[in-house]
Order: sequence, then C-alpha cells, then structure tokens
Amino acid sequence: MPIRRLAETTINRIAAGEVIERPAAAVKELVENALDAGSTRIEVILAGGGIERIEIIDDGCGIPAEELPLAIERHATSKLQDEALVQISTLGFRGEALPSIGAAAKLTLISRPAGQDGAWRIDVAGGAITAARPAAGLKGTRAIVEDLFYATPARRKFLRSPRAEAEAAERTVWRLALCAPHVAFRLVSDERVLFDLPAQPEAARVAALFGREAAANMMPLEAQRDEVKLSGLIGPASLNRATTQLQSFVVNGRPVQDSLLKLALRLAYRDVIPAGRHAVAALRLELPDEALDVNVHPAKSGLRFADQNGVRSLVIGAINRALAQPVRLGKVALGAVPSLTLRPPPSAGPRY
Ligand SMILES: Nc1ncnc2c1ncn2[C@@H]1O[C@H](COP(=O)(O)OP(=O)(O)OP(=O)(O)O)[C@@H](O)[C@H]1O
Ligand SMILES: [Mg+2]
Repeated sequence: MPIRRLAETTINRIAAGEVIERPAAAVKELVENALDAGSTRIEVILAGGGIERIEIIDDGCGIPAEELPLAIERHATSKLQDEALVQISTLGFRGEALPSIGAAAKLTLISRPAGQDGAWRIDVAGGAITAARPAAGLKGTRAIVEDLFYATPARRKFLRSPRAEAEAAERTVWRLALCAPHVAFRLVSDERVLFDLPAQPEAARVAALFGREAAANMMPLEAQRDEVKLSGLIGPASLNRATTQLQSFVVNGRPVQDSLLKLALRLAYRDVIPAGRHAVAALRLELPDEALDVNVHPAKSGLRFADQNGVRSLVIGAINRALAQPVRLGKVALGAVPSLTLRPPPSAGPRY
C-alpha cells in the first residue's frame, strides 16, 4: 500500500486513543480546562460512569463565540506562551483534549465570556462539526460529552462496567478537588451527590475528602530544600490502608500519579507500616517550572523532576521528621468537617 496522509478525523481518533483512555480521562481534561479558566465553582455530573454522559459546568472566563471553532481544532490552544515548553503554568498546553473528545464522542460546548451578550454553542460528533450558534447559557462554560467512544468502537470494547468507570471518574474528580481547595466542587454521579464542597482551606478540603477518621488523625507537614517546597498532611502509621487510594500528590497544582513520589512515600513509612499496607497522605510540592518536565505523559499524569534525588530525600526526610514528632491538626484547625454521602465502599476496601 502506498504511503498516504491520514484524514484529520482519523488523526484525531488516534490521538483520542492516547489522550482519552476512558471516561475518567475525559473528566480530567474537562475539569482541568475549567480550572485553567479561573473558575471559582465547578460542577461535574456523570451518568452511566461517564460513558453515557459527562457534564461539566464552570463559571470561568468562557470562550468567545468566534473562538469556539478553534477550541475544538487540534493543536489550537490559548495557553502555551513558552514554545520551548519550559514555563508551563496551566494544566493544559497542547490543544489536544477537546478535539480528541470530539473525535470519539458527541461533544457540546456552550460558553459565555463576561461581556458577551449571550452564550454560543458548538457541537462536534465523531469529528463532524456543527457550526457555532447562539444558545442560552450563563457566564462560563458547559461541556457535555455523550456516548463516549461511540465513534471509536475499538476503544469502547475495552471499557469496564459503568460502575467501575464511575469509580475511576469519581476518583479523578476527588484528586482534582484536592488540587484546588480554593475552588468549590460539586460531584454528582447517577443523580447522587457525592460531594458538594465550598471553597475552603487546604486542610479542610483534605478532611472533607479523606473522611473523618483520617481528618482527626492526620498531621501537617512542611519542608523546603533549595527552591522546592513540600507541604501537606500525612497520617500516622496506625492509619494505614489496604490500598493506596488515600494518597494524593499535587505538583505545581497538577494532580500526578508519580512513581518517584509514591516510592518516596513507601520508603518513608517502610519501617512503621506492615508490608502490603499503605500510608495515608496528601502531599503538595511547589517548585520552579524549569525544575520540572510536565510533557512526558499523554494524559499529563506523569512528570519528571530535574533533581530526582533532591525531591526524594526532601519527601522522605520531612515525613520521617513528622512521624518522629507528631503534631495533630485536631478539630480546631480543621473547622467543621462537612459530612459526605459517599457510595458504600466496595468490598476491596476504601474507595479512595
Ligand atoms: N472550560 C473552559 N473555559 C474556558 N476556555 C476553555 C474551556 N475549555 C477549553 N477552553 C479553551 O479551549 C482551548 C482548547 O482546549 P483543550 O483542552 O483542547 O486544549 P488545552 O487545554 O489548551 O490543552 P490540553 O490538550 O493540554 O488540555 C483551550 O486552550 C481554551 O482556550
Ligand atoms: Mg485542556
């Protein structure tokens, strides 16, 4: 067969395969867009594990009507200022998420920036675009994704049950809500409100999302080494869990699943937690953009530290010190812990 250039729709479907692996990945991209838009309140509504429908409503800066077609075009972004990819301060930077979602699903964007008379909407279904037109809508953006992977049956076959996909998507929102405690977050899945959190201090957000037992026992932690700052809350060894689900890592405001940080956490607790059990921790690292490469993973969930040893020893040292001299946060510092209505935990252990 001769070499030929692929059609744009095919290119987007291939990209969708990398970027949008499952409903949780679409949820992550859309919430990240809402955070990048400077929203103060984000609502996520899921149906059928996000396979049927995902709706994200934000009150952020919105997309001007004339830019709506660009938003769903591949490699079009309002965010990337440093084309050397060093100074990346937004969660998104590639201009890939929306076209990827639009290639694999039915995507509707309804958006209204401050100062624009009304909202405008654009639709893209399996890569086919319907021209932008006026619509009803408040300031901010509503993104609706329906029938995820209907246009990419190869991917649809690999979806797990709606229940399993719902859990992964809910966990994704849980992680993002931990990244941005200054933003109010509401999560609804199959008409059940899983959390509804106001903008709040970080410790209160951790308390709300980790649950009462963890909240009452976790200890604050703070450390710095050169330009790298570590802060967060960690559980005492006795608060260990059967899974790593009550572990959250935020690096420069990004939710990450980083193997170096996970390993550092494990090593820090190695002598005090039995094998097969896992620590409870919410850790946040802040470091200069140039000390970090965020462009190493298609779903932006991994990153690379320039000084891996420095980061590892900062984390291990700080945790060891905190464990040696425990200071509990207690109820006073946390304030009232809002009660959550979470799904009953699956038999495998706590959900997060
Ligand atoms: N909720 C939103 N509020 C305001 N603008 C948005 C929103 N969602 C998307 N946009 C605009 O649409 C553009 C394209 O979004 P998309 O997610 O595809 O790319 P990105 O965020 O720039 O990069 P990435 O692919 O890494 O996520 C963004 O750069 C932004 O300008
Ligand atoms: Mg994005």
